[in-house]
Amino acid sequence: MKRRTAIGTLGAMGALALTGPQRALAQQPILIKFSHVVTNDTPKGKGALKFKELAEKYTGGKVKVEVYPNSTLYKDKEEMDALNSGAVQILAPSTAKFRPIGVPEFEALDLPYIFEGDAGYDKVVNGPIGKGLLKKLEAKGITGLAFWDNGFHMVSANTPLLMPADFQGLKIRISGSKIADLYFRALGALPQILAFSEVYQALQTGVVDGCENTPSNYYTQKFYEVQKHITVSDHAHLQYAVITNTKFWMGLPPDIRAQLDKAMDEASEYTNSIAKQENADSLAKIKASGKTTLHALTPAQVTAWKAAFKPVYKEAESRVGKTIVDELLKSAGITI
Ligand code: LMR
Repeated sequence: MKRRTAIGTLGAMGALALTGPQRALAQQPILIKFSHVVTNDTPKGKGALKFKELAEKYTGGKVKVEVYPNSTLYKDKEEMDALNSGAVQILAPSTAKFRPIGVPEFEALDLPYIFEGDAGYDKVVNGPIGKGLLKKLEAKGITGLAFWDNGFHMVSANTPLLMPADFQGLKIRISGSKIADLYFRALGALPQILAFSEVYQALQTGVVDGCENTPSNYYTQKFYEVQKHITVSDHAHLQYAVITNTKFWMGLPPDIRAQLDKAMDEASEYTNSIAKQENADSLAKIKASGKTTLHALTPAQVTAWKAAFKPVYKEAESRVGKTIVDELLKSAGITI
């Protein structure tokens, strides 16, 4: 992915004028903190570690990347503030979490059944829609570096979720997306926003009845141990936008930034190439655990879900904007 280059050059003249202690300080590696909320053993977790490896290698150690997984540094809501204040330099939040920084359009990617399989998803994020979304971040002082894939959502509860009526009155955890809020309400459920790090306990204690997520997140957070039934519904997609603070990124020496861009491009390619298999492996492990019952939807059940979701696309316009909804519907070939 091509990104902007060349502002904020640190000139050689400046380096010559440094005193001894300043020079020693200038030789310290540039520190990049990369915070995220999932474990190291997920597509995003592995992607962050791959970026660290490549960034440190390509800059010859001039950059040090510290990866903080599994909400060890920040929980969902605190992440964006930390990026704005400069307390952290790279994040990879799901696109459901961009409303607080004033770019709710990202949530449109959460629309139900909006991607025709993996190819449909790839076409959107790698095409004009994805590029347009990343561009919207510029006005917020944020630079979008990449989209990272984590596949399609499953949904779960302690009762089987096969038809829309099965959701009636269930409290379902969502991560913050007003689109997920819409589609769970369309199924008759009561969506509740909770930080990712709080989901396991909320499921275990019955604060919520169910949740949605991808197999890799169900497996690594052990959600499957506290949910009796999981439906492999593929009803929506989970993706991340990898972002950095523009002032920080553009203030880097251009040669360093170019190496980091290369590291990010390769780490993104890697992450996106493993997401499908990682999720398939997690699903197989969940199945093998025998701790939950996995369900697939029949074509008739999928048709019933799609019918229930029909009003969501129109309602989404006032939440994320008509333009982005129209673009996605057109891309998916859905008419409303
Ligand atoms: C969630 O909150 O469910 C997800 O955003 C977690 C993640 O980053 O995969």
